[in-house]
Amino acid sequence: MSLLDAATLVRENAYVPYSRFKVGAAIRAASGAVYTGVNVENVAYPEGTCAEAGAIAAMCAAGDYRIAEIVVIADSPEPVPCCGGCRQKIAEFAGPEVRVTMATTSGLQKTVTVAELLPGVFTAAHMAAVAEG
Ligand code: THU
Repeated sequence: MSLLDAATLVRENAYVPYSRFKVGAAIRAASGAVYTGVNVENVAYPEGTCAEAGAIAAMCAAGDYRIAEIVVIADSPEPVPCCGGCRQKIAEFAGPEVRVTMATTSGLQKTVTVAELLPGVFTAAHMAAVAEG
């Protein structure tokens, strides 16, 4: 199954009683395994989580920590952009060259690299001075 098909399938399970905006995400890890996630909302709105975060959590729970490719899909007029927080979450587990595909249920797709998704990313290197003591 393609990563897009995996994201499309899992999207149906999104828990979105508040926004009604279902998002599905699928990650292919460096190991080759595929992990999926959906957005999970909460009546206390800020407690909701994004589909990308769910897929990343599933990957880590399986003991996998490197993203090789990620696809996100929603019923959006244009390919749904990952939110700012998810860009940083993806960058934690993916190199700058990793491809992020944003898709719509109507068939539009936009693929960018992690470096394009989050220019100027904050990394551990920015804490080097503290780490060196
Ligand atoms: N959402 C995601 O799951 N991923 C994104 O990249 C954008 C936004 C979710 C969060 C919330 O449940 C709904 O979409 C509306 O913001």
